[in-house]
Amino acid sequence: MSAQTADTTTPAEGATALLHLDDFERALNTVHRVTRRTPLETSRYLAEVSGAPKVYLKCENLQRTGAYKLRGAYNRLLGLSEEERERGVVAASAGNHAQGVAYAARELGIKATIFMPLGVALPKLQATRNYGADVRLEGDNFEGTLAAARQFVEDTGAVFIAPFDHLAVIEGQGTVALEMLDVAPDIETLVVAIGGGGLISGVAAAAKLQAERDGRKIRVVGVQSANTAAFQPSLEAGEPVTIQARPTIADGIAVARPGDLTFQFVQKYVDEIVTVTDDDIAKAIVMLLERTKLVVEPAGAAGVAAILAGKIASVGPIATILSGGNIDPLLLQRVIGHGLAASSRYLKLRILLPDIPGQLVRTASIVASKNANVVEVLHTRHATELPISDVELELHIETRGIEHGQEVVEALREAGYTVRVGERY
Ligand SMILES: Cc1ncc(COP(=O)(O)O)c(C=O)c1O
Repeated sequence: MSAQTADTTTPAEGATALLHLDDFERALNTVHRVTRRTPLETSRYLAEVSGAPKVYLKCENLQRTGAYKLRGAYNRLLGLSEEERERGVVAASAGNHAQGVAYAARELGIKATIFMPLGVALPKLQATRNYGADVRLEGDNFEGTLAAARQFVEDTGAVFIAPFDHLAVIEGQGTVALEMLDVAPDIETLVVAIGGGGLISGVAAAAKLQAERDGRKIRVVGVQSANTAAFQPSLEAGEPVTIQARPTIADGIAVARPGDLTFQFVQKYVDEIVTVTDDDIAKAIVMLLERTKLVVEPAGAAGVAAILAGKIASVGPIATILSGGNIDPLLLQRVIGHGLAASSRYLKLRILLPDIPGQLVRTASIVASKNANVVEVLHTRHATELPISDVELELHIETRGIEHGQEVVEALREAGYTVRVGERY
């Protein structure tokens, strides 16, 4: 999925925009008309890994529409004048923003037109249509989709709903933090995924303003995908810069340029920014499925990925937001395989066997003697690179982790076999 750039169709509200606790509190009362007060779970496993006394998980993957985005969209739409409502709203998005705007518009009786890229995942397209939006498929990538939406604004006068760079959107997103602090006032470090920066701007400002009022401090750490990390270079440059984005599984946070407003708020309220790899994210998704029984999409698992990867140090309780759960089942299947492989829980071995009877049984019994489970077997004697007297056995096995996997490979090598792990010999 191509990276998004900050939307500038709706001009940012100027360099002096300020966020106030009152506005977040008002937004919270507003969004509660349509949003769920999602649960705040704790994870003992993540506490052990991070060394923090507690790790809280705010389950916005269980939010209506499957992501926190509904909060910002509803707060923004509710602020439209009667005349603007009549013109209808338009958004460009391949994901959660589309669903948030479509749902909010339906609740308020406003016509919504949503532009999505041609290759958008079917479940997202269907969900957006089911919320009653008029979905138009335009553009091979996000830039093309955005251009089509802008043209629509020019042609029809519909109001463009920016995904992150708007004060009302940011205030809506910040309501997540107020709900969290209400249940867990002991949070010391907040870990938040960053795409365009709307979520972290709202959450960091609301949390810090509330903590300040209560006479204490909260640290906020932002997490970007290592493949699309525009904020650190922008902070170093002192202004938003556009980076060359590389593909990532975390499409929800693949934004190539910070917003003008969100840049200022991140500069002001965020203490540190770390990055995570796609492997870190895949491991986090598998961990969340296995241990907490929660389905979380890649962008939504970025905070947990940073904790698991040892990037968040905290003496006090840590909290992170599982910001979305909208993952295509086919991608989930791939991510699980990848996450297991990245944690060395799933090993693909290629073993050269002399072409004589009994070898298959012998290798299988070595694997069994190490208590590893065979998931898939492929036996071939026709690969062109194989010596004529050999066959190749591809074994996919489940293991308990790196050391267990190494034990299996060593046992096979000790028995005289040539073993390649993964794609390498
Ligand atoms: C699941 C999820 N998490 C995090 C983000 C990042 O939000 P923002 O662009 O406001 O930084 C998004 C953005 O769409 C998202 O869909």
